Amino acid sequence: MGTLPGFRQFFPQECALRDNIFDTWRRTAKAFAFQPYEAPTLEPLELYIEKSGQEVVDQLFCFQDKGGRAIALRPELTPSLAAMVGAKAAALKRPIKWFNVGECYRYERPQKGRLRAFYQFNADILGEAGPGADAELIALMITTFQNFGLTEQQVHIRLSDRTLWLQALSSWGVPQEQLFAVLNIIDKREREAAQQVIAKLEALHLEGEKLLQAIDHLSSLRSLQAIEAFLNTNKHHEPLISRLEDWKVLMAQLEAMELLPFITIDLGIVRGLAYYTGFVYEAFERSGQGRALAGGGRYDTLVEKLGGPQLPAAGFAMGDVTLQDCLQAHNCLPAQAPQAAVFIAITEESLRPQALRLTQQLRRHGLQVQGTLKPTSLNKQLEQAQHVGAHHALTVSPEGLVAKDLRNGHSEVVKEDVVVEWLRAKGHSCPLGSPFDSDLLKC
Ligand code: HAM
Repeated sequence: MGTLPGFRQFFPQECALRDNIFDTWRRTAKAFAFQPYEAPTLEPLELYIEKSGQEVVDQLFCFQDKGGRAIALRPELTPSLAAMVGAKAAALKRPIKWFNVGECYRYERPQKGRLRAFYQFNADILGEAGPGADAELIALMITTFQNFGLTEQQVHIRLSDRTLWLQALSSWGVPQEQLFAVLNIIDKREREAAQQVIAKLEALHLEGEKLLQAIDHLSSLRSLQAIEAFLNTNKHHEPLISRLEDWKVLMAQLEAMELLPFITIDLGIVRGLAYYTGFVYEAFERSGQGRALAGGGRYDTLVEKLGGPQLPAAGFAMGDVTLQDCLQAHNCLPAQAPQAAVFIAITEESLRPQALRLTQQLRRHGLQVQGTLKPTSLNKQLEQAQHVGAHHALTVSPEGLVAKDLRNGHSEVVKEDVVVEWLRAKGHSCPLGSPFDSDLLKC
């Protein structure tokens, strides 16, 4: 029987690749001093209604549990995080910088870059309203791409601003209660013909053609100077000019971190989720191929909407599906680590107890070690050593321990009491770590 549509099985090779991606996500988040948190996989359905927006609600996996509760598999982490932080806000030191790596579920049509179960790396900062937090998050997103080996020629962040959009739409006469509907239309603009968009705007009783012209013009501007010049053409735009100060701070900080080459100012991005309030951004392949690699923004009202205090917040999530496609396209997939780094062989069965003792000793030092599980010829054992990708085979023989470098075929005799040091000198590290050996701190 196959899997459900949009769900994946992970064989060891795929698991290794996935874990490698997780490692880079976690390592980068920790370098930025973010702390890990976890939230439940199942949440009350109510958590998402009206907070995430209709698109996400339409894609929910939901059911009634045996107690009659309406349950949803989490489609994203942000409402869970906002509820968690809101409940303990008074006790948490600011700024709150948290990250999570976990699985999310959306009942979408499975297609390239979109599945029904996928992993996200979420990073959020709560308790800081200024653009410094937005800059830190965008820097974390870019550094994550860099740590995978991706460059500004390969990926970029399209940076936009809901504050600017909301103020601009109001100044163009869009009534308050229709602002979100119009943002949704702008979100889909890239994929729709002008006539279709005009019809949607007119269905809201708005001046479709004129409004679309203004929307397309603002979306096409690619620099702060161009936005400023546009705003200066109309006195109704005056309140928007002050917002440009925040833009200048954000861009200056990104420039100081030498990250500007990754940034494209692009007001064509507004994000589909309902809760965003300020700067918003999405990461894409520079070529324009594929769906978004990551997306995020500021959501200063969500914590309060979920019953917490008024608390500014911003964050992003990066998905594993589009990221993996992108890494593959740019030859940035991490090399597969061997299953075992060291293989222990024996020349005769009577030496098995000695070999098992040595195997355990090396494993307790945190080395990845494999031996034979049943009587087998030495040739077969060395074949197996190649098969698991071992760099060294240690053969226990009546004459002593013979170490063979399986990459160049060189062999030498090594004394058993110095074999750990010998292996370390040959570059074997302790990938697993070991709680048993304080020596590990040195490797
Ligand atoms: P989102 O744009 O809905 O934002 O998702 C973020 C990323 O998750 C996408 O760019 C994509 O890489 C991945 N993703 C989303 N849906 C799918 C899918 N069906 N299959 C594969 N990958 C997918 C959020 O989820 C916000 N909660 C992010 C955020 C965090 N905002 C503030 N903090």
